[in-house]
Amino acid sequence: MVRGGAPLRGEVSVSGSKNSTLALMAGALLASGETRLRNVPRLRDVDTMLEILRALGVRAEWDAEEPRCVRIDASSIASPEAPYDLVRKMRASFLVLGPLVARCGMARVSEPGGCAIGVRPIDQHLKGLAALGAKVRLDHGYVEASTTGLRGGRVAFDVSTVNGTQNVMMAAVLAPGESVLENAAREPEVVELATVLNRMGADVRNAGSDRIAVRGVAALRGVHHDVAGDRIEAGTLLAAAMITRGDVRVTGVDTSTLESTLDKLRETGAELEVEPSAVRARSLGALQGVRAVTAPFPGFPTDMQAQLLAVLTLAKGSSVVTERVFENRFMHVPELQRMGADIALSDRSAHVRGVARLSGAPVMATDLRASAGLIVAALAADGETSVSRVYHIDRGYERIEEKLRSLGAEIRREG
Ligand code: EPZ
Repeated sequence: MVRGGAPLRGEVSVSGSKNSTLALMAGALLASGETRLRNVPRLRDVDTMLEILRALGVRAEWDAEEPRCVRIDASSIASPEAPYDLVRKMRASFLVLGPLVARCGMARVSEPGGCAIGVRPIDQHLKGLAALGAKVRLDHGYVEASTTGLRGGRVAFDVSTVNGTQNVMMAAVLAPGESVLENAAREPEVVELATVLNRMGADVRNAGSDRIAVRGVAALRGVHHDVAGDRIEAGTLLAAAMITRGDVRVTGVDTSTLESTLDKLRETGAELEVEPSAVRARSLGALQGVRAVTAPFPGFPTDMQAQLLAVLTLAKGSSVVTERVFENRFMHVPELQRMGADIALSDRSAHVRGVARLSGAPVMATDLRASAGLIVAALAADGETSVSRVYHIDRGYERIEEKLRSLGAEIRREG
């Protein structure tokens, strides 16, 4: 339940990155000995990944003393099979495929299937593993991959895929010889994974560019790592500050990973003070309409599209937001229209005409970022909004209502 209207003010720290954490947890499968990840967000998706790792026969748990620390020891992997019941809960589970093939010479992982935002095929993951010498086949809803020994190879991705790049990079680190990943994803979560793999003993170069080179090594060992702050959570909190005409300083995030988001917020009229690991956003004047097109990093992130769209519903003039990464990521639009937003969808764009105010209404979350967009809108709406199906938001935001309340928002969880 959100009662809109209060300008958000104050300072808030983001949690560790969900998407980085999930990839790093899969990466721990490559190493013998214990990997400790700190600054891990307490999220349902992290618990699901812990369940998956345990299903593989790996020791994986939250540290008893340190609340945001997970400990993973994959010195032995009993069964390289990730079951449908767990994988269907979270697509990112598919990130265990590459490490399992590399460590065990075989893997059986349930196909993740589509989701609310798109068909989300896995062809690039499979193409990459095949290029490294794995035999890959689909069997009764499972991907079965096996090899007598991976070897270095050239992988040219047809699309820039984050998890595809991560999966293939993780397989390549134990594949003797040189591998080259072309048209690789450049997201910070790819770079953080490569950094940790190198600390484990791997030899990955040029991560962050679209051409990653990997020289295979014999073995990796566990390390300790502090997960980076969540750049999408940071962007979400800044969008909330903007739409409520507030003044918020967000800390604990590497602001160099936020540039395209900050550029877009600046265009809407945000006054920003940017430091290496903190950013203050103030909304002084009227919100301005903008054009935005989602794209792979360093372009404007698709995971910020819904939150930006919410801000633009109250901006002067017209805006156009084009979704180029996923084919069905405007599920939040009908819900924003219920709150009085003036949005027309055509092809892959949302055409927004700014309105003077939004009104609170019962709305329904359909996926993680759509629910974040609805909460951002609700914070500026007249009256009360009830956002249902918040389990979507709990997948990616840790205690979001507490963080927003600490900034002065009127928000509470019910039921
Ligand atoms: C990651 O998903 C993130 N998830 C997503 O965040 C994020 O939206 C996405 O990257 C894009 O930034 C995690 O890291 C766990 P992609 P991923 O493969 O890797 C097509 C969130 O809200 N494609 O980069 O699955 C695909 O259909 C989530 O936190 C193929 O065609 O996304 C899409 O159109 C949602 N074949 C495009 O590439 C493939 O084999 C980009 O998807 C793989 C992808």
